[in-house]
Amino acid sequence: MSLHHPCNLSLLLFLASAAAAVIAADASGSGGGGSWQLLQSSIGISAMHMQLLSNDRVVIFDRTDFGISNISLAAGNCREDPNERVVTRDCSAHSVEYDSATNTFRPLTVQTDVWCSSGSAMPDGRLLQTGGFNDGERRVRSFSPCAPAACSSSTTTNASACIGCDWVEYENGLAARRWYSTNHLLPDGRQIIVGGRRQFNYEFYPKNDAAPGVYSLPFLVQTNDPDTENNLYPFVFLNVDGNLFIFANNRAILYNYSSRAVVKSYPAIPGGDPRSYPSTGSAALLPLKLALQPGGDVAAEVLVCGGAPRGSYEKAKVGNFVKGLGTCGRIRVNDPNPVWVMETMPRERVMGDMVMLPDGNVLIVNGAGSGTAGWEYGRDPVLNPVIYRPGNPVGSRFEVQNPTAVPRMYHSAAVLLRDGRVLVGGSNPHVYYNFTGVMFPTDLSLEAFSPAYLDGSFDGVRPAVVSPASGSGVAYGQKFAIRFTVAAGDVKADDVAVTMVAPPFTTHSFAMNQRLLVLGSEKLRSVAAGSYEVTVSSPGSRNLAPAGYYMVFVVHREIPSTGVWVKLH
Ligand SMILES: *[C@@H]1O[C@H](CO)[C@@H](O)[C@H](O)[C@H]1NC(C)=O
Ligand SMILES: *[C@@H]1O[C@H](CO)[C@@H](O)[C@H](O)[C@H]1NC(C)=O
Ligand SMILES: *[C@@H]1O[C@H](CO)[C@@H](O)[C@H](O)[C@H]1NC(C)=O
Ligand SMILES: *[C@@H]1O[C@H](CO)[C@@H](O)[C@H](O)[C@H]1NC(C)=O
Repeated sequence: MSLHHPCNLSLLLFLASAAAAVIAADASGSGGGGSWQLLQSSIGISAMHMQLLSNDRVVIFDRTDFGISNISLAAGNCREDPNERVVTRDCSAHSVEYDSATNTFRPLTVQTDVWCSSGSAMPDGRLLQTGGFNDGERRVRSFSPCAPAACSSSTTTNASACIGCDWVEYENGLAARRWYSTNHLLPDGRQIIVGGRRQFNYEFYPKNDAAPGVYSLPFLVQTNDPDTENNLYPFVFLNVDGNLFIFANNRAILYNYSSRAVVKSYPAIPGGDPRSYPSTGSAALLPLKLALQPGGDVAAEVLVCGGAPRGSYEKAKVGNFVKGLGTCGRIRVNDPNPVWVMETMPRERVMGDMVMLPDGNVLIVNGAGSGTAGWEYGRDPVLNPVIYRPGNPVGSRFEVQNPTAVPRMYHSAAVLLRDGRVLVGGSNPHVYYNFTGVMFPTDLSLEAFSPAYLDGSFDGVRPAVVSPASGSGVAYGQKFAIRFTVAAGDVKADDVAVTMVAPPFTTHSFAMNQRLLVLGSEKLRSVAAGSYEVTVSSPGSRNLAPAGYYMVFVVHREIPSTGVWVKLH
């Protein structure tokens, strides 16, 4: 490995390896780092779906059909639904906007059922969410980031101050009903919506003349176990060549959604157990390392971790909660003959969430040690998150973190915030809101996990971005300067990396659209005492990074700055 390689993440990860190797030796012990903070004991709803927007607010929602939540809607905004299971007139909210900057929240209004739905942020910053259940199954709903001070808190009583700052719903926006589908933002700015229960097909939103309908995807028929439907919420990633990598059940294809052709088939993951819902492992696209000059090969690797062995669902039905899968498979998407390289996690995990951290590592958090997704089917909460270091040698990649006290079972979620914390919430393995008399009560709280890089002991080396200002725009294939300060001074080029992270839509243990790029960088220079400037290149193509808002972080000696929002256009 060259110490002068223009892309510095490899060095960063190399530097990390010495420390990580030591920690790996006690990986099964009490835990290596990070800390937990309870942010809200109740936001009134259970955080089943979460999306961070470019104003640092997180849109959160659960379902509309399972009773009265613990937060009221603004007056007059009640929902009438004759098919509702618990109440046919519901004046409680099932969505909230959480402001991560002020730790406040306010109710939002969804009028149709958003249960087990999907979505993505769009290039203009809106959240576009699709589908759900019952009256919501063909809805498209849009939420625009907006921030009048008057509607920023839980104490807001003036509903008219927030008009225009709420969900807008489009009836029959989808051509097919979509429940348990996966969405991804495409290079042309549309979303693709893949699969869902009894939907072996995909469609786009918005629609255009070239693709107005629903297109069959035989892979979803081939990977469907008729009894357990183990291919829901497929793991979909935009490959660097513009095709989609689609993983369902226990295998994957590379797919051209324009020509509707399978470009490549990948082998089944060793062991053959299913990893997608309801077996519910998780998956992430590992950091894409870009060169300074556009063009050239960019390696893409996908990591799939955990899940429940085949048959777990049927066994859970009769009270036999099988131990979850303890393995991860990692594959190089563009190799001529790709193979899964298997690794073993410190412990088994089903229903874990995988969150890309600004330093290029992966946080695996939430979930259970046994059982499976589905009502009442999880056991043995896994309270310790694990950090996976993709750049370390096999055998020293996992690092056990300090535990939370809150089990996060079925219907929990986690998202990265711009300040480097991870927002964690949800958990409701019950058909209803059940706060008492059950094994894992419906959880309405929000916590933050702060990885060890946020420890105050690193403040001396922690970078702080001075420019560009948050909210700045940057064009494709453009070189731009990032100015930052580091209190301790003496910053070396080889110790600095710049990463760019897309804010994903997270539900059911999968973060749709999650993407981290390491930008090519050069010319680190000192501009004043403690003040530096580094030149980076934005991605050269929409296949590498669809247009939209990204968080840009400067990482110095493994310690990330707070991010700045940059609009790639
Ligand atoms: C729901 O709200 C009620 C009344 O405000 C409160 O007593 C109760 O503790 C809340 N439940 C939860 C689980 O937060
Ligand atoms: C409520 O908000 C609206 C819109 O911002 C404003 O015009 C109105 O004066 C506010 N009403 C009260 C009682 O504060
Ligand atoms: C997908 O197929 C279309 C039509 O044949 C082609 O124009 C396009 O380049 C292909 N996409 C990729 C990513 O190869
Ligand atoms: C869960 O909540 C529902 C609806 O309120 C109620 O009917 C049911 O008895 C609760 N279950 C338990 C185990 O308390």
